[in-house]
Amino acid sequence: MVTVTFITADGREQVAEIDEGISLMEGAVGNGIDGIEAECGGNCYCGTCRVYVEPDWQAVVGGQGEFETPVIETTGDENPNVRLSCQIAVTDKLDGLVVRLPENQT
Ligand code: FES
Repeated sequence: MVTVTFITADGREQVAEIDEGISLMEGAVGNGIDGIEAECGGNCYCGTCRVYVEPDWQAVVGGQGEFETPVIETTGDENPNVRLSCQIAVTDKLDGLVVRLPENQT
């Protein structure tokens, strides 16, 4: 199991235990994390699964994928740390990961 902390915009910490091999979005939804909507079910289409990767973790998590950037652009979210959580595969390297959540997933 991989432990990931999701911090809401108002500073509430939510800790999830996630199986390796699924996406960070699936792990968040499975753990009932508040603040991830994932309306498209992980198809890199809706942009409502956004997370902000803490600076210390960016090298491990990596940057946006080719199909991810245009979706993020449609949301108008200009946070430099933004990723779509459905496009982040959970591996043991992510154990201890901390991400923040946007105020609104629109
Ligand atoms: S769940 Fe829709 S873009 Fe990630």
